[in-house]
Amino acid sequence: MEVERVQEIASLSSLKGTIPSAFIRLENEQPAITTIHGVLLEVPVIDLSNPDHQSLVASISEASQNWGIFQVVNHGIPSELISKLQKDGKEFFELPQEEKEKIAKPIGYEGVEGYGTKLQKEIEGKKGWVDHLFHRVWPPSAINYHFWPKNPPSYRDTNEKYAQSLIPVADKLFGLLSRGLGLEDGELKQGLGGEELTYILKINYYPPCPCPELALGVAPHTDMSSLTILVPNEVQGLQVFKDDHWYDVAYIPNALIVHIGDQIEILSNGKYKSVFHRSTVNKDKTRMSWPMFLEPPPEFEVGPMPKLTSEENPPKYKTKKFKDYVYCKLNKLPQ
Ligand code: OGA
Ligand code: NI
Repeated sequence: MEVERVQEIASLSSLKGTIPSAFIRLENEQPAITTIHGVLLEVPVIDLSNPDHQSLVASISEASQNWGIFQVVNHGIPSELISKLQKDGKEFFELPQEEKEKIAKPIGYEGVEGYGTKLQKEIEGKKGWVDHLFHRVWPPSAINYHFWPKNPPSYRDTNEKYAQSLIPVADKLFGLLSRGLGLEDGELKQGLGGEELTYILKINYYPPCPCPELALGVAPHTDMSSLTILVPNEVQGLQVFKDDHWYDVAYIPNALIVHIGDQIEILSNGKYKSVFHRSTVNKDKTRMSWPMFLEPPPEFEVGPMPKLTSEENPPKYKTKKFKDYVYCKLNKLPQ
């Protein structure tokens, strides 16, 4: 059985000027109808080089409680490295189809890694206008290089360098988020598996779409991760649900977009909120994004931190293994 890639569907669709009905959203999801137009949402900007630790903690904590998303500037990752990450990922997706299929998710395989297209249809049988590649990048024991592109040849080195340079940024964020909860620097990361916390890179590839007002890239969701650190390309597409409406997020060149994921909402017993988001597609341009999901190991149990609950503030979430959380979420079962 051949899996149909959106990239291939897109090249046929651009000739015809229409898209298959499986990609046409119901009215309550169509971006043209449901987006607040002409307003770019300015999500909080966190300057990581700010020497005033107290104010940094306060701004990250405020953003995580009221938005669940913020952008980070002066993070220390060289802009050349981010450009190289984008260039190498783009080159992979521009390879001939059979080259990409060499690292496709095998049929019937349950793992997350590999090149692919979401098979499971969403509500009402609709599909997202996007292909993807997933592979783990950290810790070294979690890496399976089979799922890393061999082409372009610099892909591995670039992605290893990017993962390495992201670790201190993530650690700093975890420290600040911990302080915002009245904890010590290392406590939040400890509650997520400590040094076994796994970094999974996803590349989203959204080909041009003849009917961008009717389709979505990634459907509305919150991330299952603890934090997601995302690099977009220059094509607008990320939307956030705020005050009951969908808004486009204003990009800042070279900023990292940080999403609070479900696991941090759980650990904080609901004080920090995971952000509800989706992505749209563009008529003429290919959009890409590189979210890095920071996830607990599968067997690791996550629940509200005992220090953050009390008789007046009882646990609002169950404590469970991360793999069980993922299973319930993917199968739309109650947690
Ligand atoms: C995701 C996601 C948003 C984007 O892949 O989980 O939310 O901007 N992507 O591509
Ligand atoms: Ni997401």
